[in-house]
Amino acid sequence: MIRSWFPTFIYSGPLMEAGLDRLNADLAAECRSLRDFDKAGREWSRRNYPGGYTSYASLNELHHFSSTFTRMERRIARHVRLYAAALDMDLRGRSIRMTDCWVNIMPASASHSLHLHPLAFVSGTYYVAAPRGCPGLKFEDPRLDRFMAAPPRLPGARRANRAHVTYPAHAGQLILFESWLRHEVAQNRVEAERISVSFNYNWS
Ligand code: NI
Repeated sequence: MIRSWFPTFIYSGPLMEAGLDRLNADLAAECRSLRDFDKAGREWSRRNYPGGYTSYASLNELHHFSSTFTRMERRIARHVRLYAAALDMDLRGRSIRMTDCWVNIMPASASHSLHLHPLAFVSGTYYVAAPRGCPGLKFEDPRLDRFMAAPPRLPGARRANRAHVTYPAHAGQLILFESWLRHEVAQNRVEAERISVSFNYNWS
């Protein structure tokens, strides 16, 4: 008998049932004006996020400063609780809170290399604008660096047995994952800007 242990769970779904267009229009406008306003962030991005803009190092608590982002955060929190429940995390008598929330704008040719999100338990991304053909979010098997001498997988390997999985980016879609799970975004090869909001959650 073979059983599966230590699974890796990734959550995805629409942020809410209705009102996504309105929320995304508000968020997109705010993301672009943040970029115009955030000189320190643009400089940081020039060195660390080539071709794109991220407020990761400059304006990373947007949920405390913008009512639009606060609105989004309230919606996201519901999904984080569902996700944590599916993982049997014991949050009885405990609370969760978004600790960081930042904007990523990827014009043509921008990419985001492999990384994880330290000092959080759940992280995720919400897609504000995802033009047709823009790159998705690619996750890596967390055991990849321990495979020692494993042979390659068959071309038709079951998806759960593959070393990578890519979630396509769709506006209005939310993706949640455990913060230790490494991920990356391939180069954007379309002209239109891909806009996402990334965030971390912690518990206490
Ligand atoms: Ni990330």
